[in-house]
Amino acid sequence: MKVSIHTLENSFLRSLVVVFFLPLVAGQCPTDLDIAPCTCLENEMTCDSITAPQDLQNALQEVKQLDLKKFFLTNSNIPALPSSLFNYSDFQHIIVEKTDLPFLTSPVSGISPFMGIIGIITQVELREVKSLNSWDWTLFSPLKTLRTLIISECSFVFIPNTFSDLTKTNIQELTIKNSDVWWIGDSALSTLNQLHTLNLSGNKIKTILRSMFPSSIKQLHLMGNELKSLPEDIFKGMNKLILLDLTYNKLETLSLSLFPEFAQNVSPLEVKVEGNPWVCNCSIVWLSNTDYVDVYDIDTTTCASPDSLVNKILNDVDWASLGCQVLTTS
Ligand SMILES: *[C@@H]1O[C@H](CO)[C@@H](O)[C@H](O)[C@H]1NC(C)=O
Ligand SMILES: *[C@@H]1O[C@H](CO)[C@@H](O)[C@H](O)[C@H]1NC(C)=O
Ligand SMILES: *[C@@H]1O[C@H](CO)[C@@H](O)[C@H](O)[C@H]1NC(C)=O
Repeated sequence: MKVSIHTLENSFLRSLVVVFFLPLVAGQCPTDLDIAPCTCLENEMTCDSITAPQDLQNALQEVKQLDLKKFFLTNSNIPALPSSLFNYSDFQHIIVEKTDLPFLTSPVSGISPFMGIIGIITQVELREVKSLNSWDWTLFSPLKTLRTLIISECSFVFIPNTFSDLTKTNIQELTIKNSDVWWIGDSALSTLNQLHTLNLSGNKIKTILRSMFPSSIKQLHLMGNELKSLPEDIFKGMNKLILLDLTYNKLETLSLSLFPEFAQNVSPLEVKVEGNPWVCNCSIVWLSNTDYVDVYDIDTTTCASPDSLVNKILNDVDWASLGCQVLTTS
């Protein structure tokens, strides 16, 4: 008897679910909608080859009753996004690609183009977008729900200190990769205190300072830069760090004294070091046997010097014969 009551309840609930979700489906893009030069499919809107901001504005007016989630702007060339562009929209995810957008918004109004979706937007992706260095990053600061920002293949030579205005957002994942980053402002990312994944891979970074980063970082990806050394205090207070990717830089040596923070941690800090011109002397013997720093790629990383050890895998180096004191870990 009980079973059949449950079944009854279940089918009642299921019909409720159907009734309540129908309007959502109805909020998706109808197949016959003409919003040229934009198109939409299900809950995604794409605008291609835009040169007049008004065309964008008109297309968005047409879809304001719909429940679209993703907005994709590509192959376009416009001076700025109109400041009320996203009023009445529900976009959570904005992608701008292959676009020249010298001003994010009109420098005269100075109003964020995202005002209509503050409280909704969670992710922004910029790929091959020109002129990021002239953008006013304070325009992102009202976006309290923004969690993820991905910048890739853009020319973003300098990450300015004004980037720290993103502290008012909920930014947790930040990627600025393959974007020719050369300089980072000395406090550019330091206030982003929700940030747990920072990916700065594939840039031209030569110098990093502790003051640039928040203490909340769990994953720090620095692959493919031009780092020759790291400052002694670089990980000070960064005790949430679990993954550090230093592969393909110009490091010749790395001191264990950079990592005292991690000796007390329950799980080891995972470090990747492949692709650096390591000088195999006693200074890096610790890479192969320290228990609280786990060098992930010790079996594939090779020495670049001295001559007698060129291309020798770190794990195969006979450190004792080099006169190094080989620590034995218990
Ligand atoms: C767009 O929305 C913002 C914030 O809600 C508001 O200040 C602005 O006046 C709106 N613009 C138009 C043209 O409705
Ligand atoms: C960081 O960026 C590099 C370069 O594109 C990529 O290979 C890697 O998967 C990224 N890592 C994360 C955690 O996003
Ligand atoms: C090992 O080589 C590095 C890089 O050249 C150097 O800075 C360091 O002093 C050397 N260590 C020892 C113990 O010779």
